[in-house]
Amino acid sequence: TFMNGISEFRVLESQIKDKLQLEHVIIVSGDSDEQQTVKEELGKACVQFLNTIVTSNQTIAVTGGTSMAEVANQMKPLHQATNCTFVPARGGLGEQVENQANTICAQMAKKANGNYRMLYVPDPLSEESYHTIIEEPTVKEILQMVQDAKIVLHSIGDAITMAKRRKASQEVIDRLTTQHAVSETFGFYLNRHGEVVYKARTVGLQLADLDKAQYVIAVAGGKSKANAIQSYFKLGKSNVLITDEAAAKELLEGY
Ligand code: BG6
Repeated sequence: TFMNGISEFRVLESQIKDKLQLEHVIIVSGDSDEQQTVKEELGKACVQFLNTIVTSNQTIAVTGGTSMAEVANQMKPLHQATNCTFVPARGGLGEQVENQANTICAQMAKKANGNYRMLYVPDPLSEESYHTIIEEPTVKEILQMVQDAKIVLHSIGDAITMAKRRKASQEVIDRLTTQHAVSETFGFYLNRHGEVVYKARTVGLQLADLDKAQYVIAVAGGKSKANAIQSYFKLGKSNVLITDEAAAKELLEGY
């Protein structure tokens, strides 16, 4: 049974805000695990929120994944902001093309009437390649833009689901299991206390960079992501959460 009155969501939103210590929480109706239309609503809510905060000439760093792909699908011209640039927060050639940060950035920029830049690096990377690639001038330039971004849009994943999707080795998966990894964001795997238990070697945004951004907006819904969301927010790195009713209710019941 889903609630539908706005006021009921206001209560749920403020409960989540208190629980996760957040500045803004937006909740849409339903469960995005069950219905794709709910993911679309998450995307719309994100675009709407973005429109209220974005100003001209800003850089917006964006990650990959299906939630972000839906934000791109729902993107609209940013009316009060001109000359904004979308940059991929990380490399991501390991994902399917439509879920890669590069693809999503390009689509967002096109629909928002903005600019975009690309980051052509595999994710994750070997130790040797990592050190060479981050010295490439074009890569360096984009990384600088990513680090200076005032707005970051990202999602949060369940740790094991994401490790498998990224084709992590059995050794890594075993390690994540032993260390009780619950969530994954930006290549960082966290336990339920929000402690980093494993880090994939990725080029792009690092957790420390998030402190400089004005708005770090997490878009993550579905009952199955409740524990992941809770774990990620223990870190306190994002100040906005856009989620759905099912995740929110499950979150309130959790530890
Ligand atoms: C991405 C994040 O935005 O979304 C990942 O960079 C996260 O860290 C992923 O795990 C979740 O993907 P999805 O498809 O569930 O939105």
